[in-house]
Parts: sequence; structure tokens; C-alpha cells
Amino acid sequence: MATTRVAQEEPVTATAVADGGATTASTSPWQHRHLLDLDDVSTDEIATVLQSASAMKAVVQRDVKKVPTLRGRTVVTLFYEASTRTRVSFEAAGKLLSADVINLSASGSSAEKGESLLDTVLTLQATAADLLVIRHAHSGAPYFAARNLTRTAVINAGDGAHAHPTQALLDLFTMQEHLGSLKGRKVLIVGDISHSRVARSNLWGLCKVGAIPVLCGPPTLMPWDLLKGRTEQPGHPFASVQVEQDIEEAMRDADVVMPLRIQKERQDAGLLPSLREYAQQWQVNSERLARLAPNALVMHPGPMNEGVEISPEVAHGLQSAIETQVTNGLAVRMALLLLMATPQGGLNG
Ligand code: NCD
Repeated sequence: MATTRVAQEEPVTATAVADGGATTASTSPWQHRHLLDLDDVSTDEIATVLQSASAMKAVVQRDVKKVPTLRGRTVVTLFYEASTRTRVSFEAAGKLLSADVINLSASGSSAEKGESLLDTVLTLQATAADLLVIRHAHSGAPYFAARNLTRTAVINAGDGAHAHPTQALLDLFTMQEHLGSLKGRKVLIVGDISHSRVARSNLWGLCKVGAIPVLCGPPTLMPWDLLKGRTEQPGHPFASVQVEQDIEEAMRDADVVMPLRIQKERQDAGLLPSLREYAQQWQVNSERLARLAPNALVMHPGPMNEGVEISPEVAHGLQSAIETQVTNGLAVRMALLLLMATPQGGLNG
């Protein structure tokens, strides 16, 4: 659904930012004005984001982290749902790139007085927001904003159970940083997949980079609608996705295991027996961890319910990349702001 723009000026690349402008900017294949999901983002574009994120991570690890690249640009974060990591990392990303960052949440905004989403986003555009980072409980809300904005680019920071593309990109970055090429890597996602926007965007990303996503969890929480026809229809985007009912079997030789939080706020009652029983059957714990491939990673988008989908020892254990995911989230979001707010990304086009 995202619109495509053509480069009009010399792009500012992440490498050029990281080395203070010493590198000559080269043309990047990033083509999107908005980032709404990964379904229409190409494998080359994903590679561009991950490459830029690497350069941004080097910036984040310096003593003095701030670079002037987005001076004069305004990033607005508009969150209608709770968030810690995503909101803070977008804010930090904008600030490290010297953009002006304005944070707005539904409580405390005119949404509480009944203002519509349309009026809210048009108001933000009228106050010169270059980039709008939006999270909303309704699937499709960022698409609606993107359709109605002519001067502001939109980044989806999570819409209902539909998509969370920046989380999927930071997950890909973390896996690639640790494992190298993701082609043929077995990535096991466990738990409430049908209500997880993280899982959905990860499925697009993982399939595009040639990894093998394996889904495991209670059959009532599997995204059967999404997977329909994948083994019969030629060229189905999720043809490589596997479903495994038995967690012991699913964990065998997995390169990554990603347990997910049960999304109680998005599901009807009756899909699960009890959290205690869920934990017994599906929890990623130390005993089960022994089945993974050596050097495998444990990942979780957060927030975790320790003791339910993941045991505390595993969450904070040696194989856990959960904190690294947060740092990488900052680098990936800096890369995206850079790609989308500089001419190549389309704001001037
Ligand atoms: C996730 C989200 O909000 O979709 N968290 C995040 O962005 N890091 C996952 C969740 O809420 O369980």
C-alpha cells in the first residue's frame, strides 16, 4: 500500500553520517515514502535498512552519539496504545539525529475530547511534522493516516494485530548480526501468533530474506487465515512457513527461538485453558533450551510475562538477545528516520 518515490537529490547515507560525511553518498534502493508493513518492502530495501542500521549502531556506541543530520526536521510520535521500547527508541533515534521530536499520546491529547484520527493527523501535518510515527489499536489506522497526508511520511509503530514492521526489522538485524546470512536459518516463533503483529511482520521479513519460520503454539492461536493455501498455491509468500504442534520437536536445531506474550487485550476468552497450563506446555525454559542449535539465540519483542511464555533464567540467560534487541531497535529506527527523512526517502519528492 505504500507509495513509491524516485530519488531527486544526492542521498545522505548512513555510512556518510557515521563517518562524518567522509564517504561519498551512493544511491540506495530504499523506495518507500511510508513504512506501513514489510509485505511490499523488497529484499534489497531490507538489506539497505540493515546496512544503515549497522552504521547507526556504530554511532550509538560512541561516547558522543549525536549527529546533526536531521537538524530542522520534525518527528512526531503519536501513540494511542501503551508502549515502552518502541516509543522511547523512536524518540531517542530522532534526538540522536538532531531532529525535533514531539511526543503525543491519546491520553492528554484532543482525542480525549472526541477529536477524530483524521483531524489529529491533519493537525500534526499542519504543524510541520515531517515524519509521523503512529501506534493504534485498530489495524489499518496508519494506512488511513498515510492516505490522508500529503506532506508527512508515516511509520507504523504497531496497528492492532496487523503489523509492526520496525520490530521485524530490528529482529532481522539482531539475527543477522549474530548468525550472519539468514538463508535457511530456522526461526521458531512460539505462542499467540494469531494476535501478534510482531509475528505477522516477522513472517514477511523472514520469508523475504530466505529464513525458515516455524510456528508453534496452541492451534487456537495459529494464524490459519494467513497460512491458507501456502502448500498448494505456487508462489505463495508464506510457502516456506512450517507449523509444528510439538514444542520439543520444534526446538530441535532451531537457530532462533522467539516466545511471544499472550495478547490478552486482543483475544476472546476461551482460546486458552489457563496461563499455568499454557506455561507447562509452551514455555521456553532451560530444559527445552538444550534442544536448540549451538549458538542459538533467544529473542522476545517485550514486554515479557516472565514465568508464562519464558522462564526468568532463559530471559536473562547467556543465550538471550533480548536487551540487544532494544539497542538494535534504536539503531534500526535511526536508519529508518534517516532513509525516510532525507531526499532519497521522498520527503522532498
Ligand atoms: C509488541 C507490540 O506492542 O506489538 N511490543 C513491542 O513493540 N516491543 C509486543 C507485545 O505487545 O506483546
